[in-house]
Order: sequence, then C-alpha cells, then structure tokens
Amino acid sequence: MTRIAVLASGGGSNLKAILEYLVSLGPAAPGQVVLIASERRQSGAIAKGLANAIDTVVLGDATDPNSHELEALLAAYKIDLVVLAGYLRLVPAAVVDRYTDRIVNIHPSLLPAFGGPGMYGSRVHQAVIDAHETISGATVHLVSREYDRGLILAQWPVPVLRTDSAAALAERILTVEHALYPRIVAALAAGRRDRFPLKPAPAYFANPPISAAAIAGQIDALLAN
Ligand code: GRF
Repeated sequence: MTRIAVLASGGGSNLKAILEYLVSLGPAAPGQVVLIASERRQSGAIAKGLANAIDTVVLGDATDPNSHELEALLAAYKIDLVVLAGYLRLVPAAVVDRYTDRIVNIHPSLLPAFGGPGMYGSRVHQAVIDAHETISGATVHLVSREYDRGLILAQWPVPVLRTDSAAALAERILTVEHALYPRIVAALAAGRRDRFPLKPAPAYFANPPISAAAIAGQIDALLAN
C-alpha cells in the first residue's frame, strides 16, 4: 500500500476528492493518505484530516527553503508519494531531490501558460480572462525545483466563457480537478505511469461533457485502455 502525504494550504476540496475516491475503491485502493500537512492551522485541509482521523501536522517553517522540517516529517511517516493540493509554498530542494518523480501537483491552468511564482488562486483565472483566452483547464504535473515546471502528467481543457468571473471559471475548473486529480494520484500510487501524458481525445472539446461524472468516465476509460 502506497503511503501518501497530502500538503495543502487552502480549502482542501482536492484533498476531499482524493480521500473520497480512495475510499470508493475499497480494498482495491492502491494507496492511503496517512499524513496531511499544512503551513496554516486554519486551513480546511487540517480540518478534513482531523475529521477523517488522519494524522495532521502544521508546518512551522514552511517559508524557509532550507528547512529540513518537511523532509524529516516525510521520512518519519515513511511516505512514498507526496501530493500537493493547493500547497502555496515552494517544496524545499532537498525534498524534491529525495522524492524525484514522487511529488505531484495540480494547477488550475493549461501549463506552461499562466503558471510560475505568484500564479495561484484567482490570480490565475483573472489572468486567463484578461488575456481573452477561450480555453483554460487543469494540469497535473510532477514537481521540480521551480514552481509549475515539472513533467506534465495530465491536462484537461475547460472552456472560458465570455461572461466568466474568476470565481466562475475557478469553479468550472475545480469540477474537472476533482475528477482528474484523484485518478492520477491513484494511478501513481499503483505505479502505473504508462498512460501519461493523459489528454482527452480531440473530439472531447468539440462537445465537452460537462458533468463531473462524464469527465470521470472519460478519464477512467483513458487510464484503463
Ligand atoms: C486548486 O485550484 C488547485 O489547482 C490549486 O489550488 C487550488 C486548491 O483548491 N493548486 P482546494 O484547496 O483543493 O479547494
């Protein structure tokens, strides 16, 4: 069983989706979230960890890139896979190097567009709208020493509507994130990397299925074949 740590700074909706998806797999689940860490005691992620009886840790010095706190924590919990779910701090280089190809992140745009330092939350979506893009989306990628620059594992497009606010676009993309990220995390936990990079068939976007269930079905089919 792959031991997973989730790092999150915010509301934790992706964490919730991952926990629910792994539970839905029952005994077939290839991994288990055994640790949730955040630099913010008030984050929704910490609350979700406590509610689910998962060990939670509030990081004391997450702003220090030379800190060994996270490295020691991951070692103590014998973590195999690190999942960033809205984690706003740069992962220390020592951790990136130790967990090569075993740290994954999700970003709410089609990277490399609208990524990098300072591009998080509504800033990403507002920049997409200001640039008059018609397509944005979600990207799952491995974590390297630079923000949002690691190998892309999956990308899923989402239409940008002319009337969109940043909040409306964020919500549409989050629906995709909640279908996409748990499935990619489970595939990584199972050691299945043969399907990456994962992209919807070109026909997908011509007639986008908009329900979360339809998106999940497409992703399941792509991962199964
Ligand atoms: C998501 O949009 C994710 O792509 C980005 O941060 C946000 C986290 O949202 N990295 P939540 O805390 O999972 O609700």
